[in-house]
Amino acid sequence: MQIEWTDGEESFADRAAKHVAARFADKPTQTVALPTGMTPVGLYRRLLALEAAGAIRLGAAHYFNLDEYVGVPQADSHSFAAFLHRHFLDQAAIAPGQVRLLQGDAPDIAAEAQAHDAAVAAQGGLDLAILGLGANGHIAFNEPGASWDATTHVVPLTQETRAANAAYFADAFTVPSEGVTMGIGMLRAARHILLMVSGASKAQALEAFLAGRPDPSWPVTALCGHPSVTLVADSALRRG
Ligand code: PGA
Repeated sequence: MQIEWTDGEESFADRAAKHVAARFADKPTQTVALPTGMTPVGLYRRLLALEAAGAIRLGAAHYFNLDEYVGVPQADSHSFAAFLHRHFLDQAAIAPGQVRLLQGDAPDIAAEAQAHDAAVAAQGGLDLAILGLGANGHIAFNEPGASWDATTHVVPLTQETRAANAAYFADAFTVPSEGVTMGIGMLRAARHILLMVSGASKAQALEAFLAGRPDPSWPVTALCGHPSVTLVADSALRRG
């Protein structure tokens, strides 16, 4: 595992973007899983700046989202799809055909999850999974106790996650009780993982990951032993 401790938001975003750019330089037709949340916002901004400067070509890759709220249409501004469009996809030179985002309000959500997996498989699997980390150790919407073999599936969201996500919205949006998420089995199968960790609430989860002991009560520890993980973490979280 490669660990990069960073100081401040700019360096955090910069190191993550450099890692992504290196992967794209290696293979411009990357299949990429994209996270939602506060953590990757600076990364997306940096990638757009790199593209504007001609330092990365984003348009040849295929993009998938990691997760979505069940029951929320993509057109709803609270959806993860809308977030990714707002912060990244709409400003990048990426053709709509290169993007597949989960449809949280699909009438048959299990079929939608399967279709997401099939679309990833059709691109040869994930080259790069970009992940944030939940305070409870979740990766994507894989909460503590989640199966480590799963593909994309529907999951109940913990109260902790629902409360953390409600804080993103100034309005009275009720965070749904279920999400649909790429499973840990699928994330572990990604050829490269970029794990981005910032925020004081993540200290314990990061510590569990760095301890290197697989423990289902900390889903992120499913990545311990993965052959290609880059951790970019705020040095305020560094212990010892
Ligand atoms: P955050 O969320 O980036 O908003 O901290 C991360 C997560 O819960 O996966």
